[in-house]
Formats: sequence, C-alpha cells, structure tokens
Amino acid sequence: MRINFFLKCSSCGEILDQKDPSLKCPKCKSQLVVDYDYEAIKEQVRHIFDGQVSTIWKYRPLLPLINEKNIISIGEGGTKILRASKLASYLDIDKLFLKVEAWNPTGSQKDRQLSLAISRGLELGYKISITSSSGNVGASVAAYSSKASILPLIMVPNIAPEEKLAQIIMYGGVVIMLDTPSNIEVASLVEKIVEKFQIYDVVTAGTHNPYTVEGGRTISYEIYEQLGQLPDVVIAPVGGGGLLGSMWKGFKELEILGLVKRNELPRMIGVQASGCAPFVQAIKEKWDIKKVFSTPWGVINTICNAIADTIPLDALHALPAVRESDGTAIAVNDDETLEAEYKLSSLEGIFAEPSSSTTIAALKKLREEKIIDRGESVLCMITGTGFKDLRSIMKIKGKFVRLQPNLNNVINYIEREFITKNR
Ligand SMILES: Cc1ncc(COP(=O)(O)O)c(C=O)c1O
Ligand SMILES: [Zn+2]
Repeated sequence: MRINFFLKCSSCGEILDQKDPSLKCPKCKSQLVVDYDYEAIKEQVRHIFDGQVSTIWKYRPLLPLINEKNIISIGEGGTKILRASKLASYLDIDKLFLKVEAWNPTGSQKDRQLSLAISRGLELGYKISITSSSGNVGASVAAYSSKASILPLIMVPNIAPEEKLAQIIMYGGVVIMLDTPSNIEVASLVEKIVEKFQIYDVVTAGTHNPYTVEGGRTISYEIYEQLGQLPDVVIAPVGGGGLLGSMWKGFKELEILGLVKRNELPRMIGVQASGCAPFVQAIKEKWDIKKVFSTPWGVINTICNAIADTIPLDALHALPAVRESDGTAIAVNDDETLEAEYKLSSLEGIFAEPSSSTTIAALKKLREEKIIDRGESVLCMITGTGFKDLRSIMKIKGKFVRLQPNLNNVINYIEREFITKNR
C-alpha cells in the first residue's frame, strides 16, 4: 500500500516526510499536524466505505503508520450507534443517536487515539511511553504500551478516581500521582521529562504528539457508515478538545473524499462542566489561540474529572470545529450531569461516566433554549463507561434500603412500596 501521510508545522509551514520521527517542528518547535495526500487515498478507499464497521484499522489508508507489522490493536472502534427513543421523548426530540464509545476495550474513546499513537511509537522505536491523565488516557496508554512491550509511565493529578488507577496498574502501567488537581500542570511536567530522557510523549494533545489526535477521525467515518448519512448535530464532551477537533477533521475528509456534500456536515457542539469551562469561555468571547493558551481556568470545581482540563490544549483543532460548522459550546453543572447520567442509565441501559453524560445534560439545555429543533437529528457521544468512576454517583444516587433477612418482612416491604402502588 502506498503511504499517504506527511507532517506539517502549524506555524512555519515546514513539511516533514513520514519517516521523520519528530513530534514537534524541528525548526520552530511548534505543533505539527498530520496531513494526507487525499487524491491517492481516494483511489484506495473506494471500496472501504461499505456500511460495515470493524476496528479503526479498517481505515488503514487514512491512518498515519508506515508498516502494518507495527499495528497494536485490542479491538478499538467499531462501536455501536443506538437509537435512544425513550431518552429522545424525555428530551422532546425526534431522532437521538448515541455513539457508545464507552464500549471500547479499556472503556473510553481514547483507545482509538492510543491504538494509533502507540503503534506509531513502536514504529519510531520507543521503549518507554509517558503521559498525563486523570485516568482514561492512562488506562489506554498502559494497555496499548504494555501490549507493544513499551513501558508506560502514567502521571496523574490527585483528582483521578481509584477505579481508574487500579485499571492502569492492572494493564502494567506505572502510576505516579502528583499533588495537584491540574492535568495541564502534570502535562507540562511531562514535557520537561520528555526533553530530558527522550521517551515517548503520549499526552493526548496535538501540542505534544500529532498522532494522538488522528484516531478520533475514525468515529466520523463510522457514523457515516452506520447511519448512511450524517446527523444534523453532533454533541461531544471537551477536555483538551482533541475529540471534537478530530471528529470535525473526519467529517471534512468525508467531503474531500466525495462521500458527502459540504451542507451535509453536522453542527459541532462542545460540552464542558461549568466548574472548568475554558473552551466554552473561549468560544463565547471569541478568543484566538494565543489567548486560549495564556488564559488557564482558575479553580477546578466539578466531578467531571476526565474533562477538567484548565487549558484546552487541542484548541487548534477544536476552535475551528465549532466555528466552521456553525456550532457552539455549552457548560452544564454537576447536578444537571448527574441527572442526565441517571436518565441515560435508567431509560436506555447505558451507564456512562459523568464527563460523558454531559452531552445528554447539554442536549436538554439546548432543546430548552431552542438552539436545537425538535426535528433535527442529534448524535451524542457517550465517551466513557460509568464503571470507572463510582464514588460521585454513590454519593447522590446510591441510596437503598436494608432489611432483616426475614420473608414476611421482605414481602411486606415489596407489597407496600411497589405492588400496591403499581396496580
Ligand atoms: C470520557 C471522556 N470523554 C471526553 C473526553 C474529552 O476528550 P478531549 O480531551 O479530546 O477533548 C475525555 C478526555 O480524556 C474523556 O476521558
Ligand atoms: Zn515550524
């Protein structure tokens, strides 16, 4: 297969070929972006978009890797899209789809990003990987690195939930907790450690490693294949913004490949927790990228730890996603998120973590504010599983009765509370 990718500096325009191991521009140290020879790809993908999904590696000509033998795969991607009719009627909307990324191998959409980034890291000859993570990236980096026989060092802020730390350790990751709630502070330390030891930087942000944002494009390809068309609106949680940005890149590529028309591309809506919402502020106040990087959010005050990034490091990709698609960004508070999480679980059987339930809370608000019409088709990203973050839920929703193990006692309770009331 002909290899179709190259790297381009986002600042000075320097072009690097696919054999170049740089993760930042060698000339000016700015962010590199992966670009593609779409004319060549057009020919190669002619039969690929056949309506079936499998793993991200189905889209091999669109993924930046030279040699197939470096592919590290645990079955990432190919996630289901569910039609959520009960939730739709609760939210007063005709057509609601859920792309359930929580069912990826380690329980979040990050597996798409890391399957690709670690495969490329293996190709570039790295023996040790390092990342900053509140848990989901860490789990994914640990699983894929260990499978590639690369040692994963996972630096976590002190807000990472225990379930996620346990998962990272089980995948063979070395957990190093730093006494700060800020993922961005941890990420900037990682940058310095990488400079010192030349180990593989897999902080999932294009500013650290351009390959970490490319895997998310496959979500958009799958949406097109599974629905046969694109929804009117896509709602995704925003931490660094890599997910939103890479999905937008994927949708635009479908246009470049001649599969959809420009006016069929969805409006992209980014969601954050109101206790850490720098991206929402950036959109509302029309900040440029320089302002975004020089204005970190102050105090983090949310249970949505997976998206509590004080600087959206992938603003280069995420700001245009909202602006070019005529979308918006919206913040939801923790009460709204927990209510949405409960509705999602109890109406549709999908147990998602708070950070990913924000999309449902956002849809409720966007309907109330009439920013989304009833007749528009909406796809909400459900990015991470609820099993990884139980503490916040147990505090609020974890109420249950305790009875003596006595048959009459139990019969009386059930009869009084449920049988009589539901007759
Ligand atoms: C469950 C979940 N949803 C959404 C996101 C947001 O992704 P991004 O940081 O690319 O904006 C993350 C990031 O870690 C996540 O873990
Ligand atoms: Zn440059």
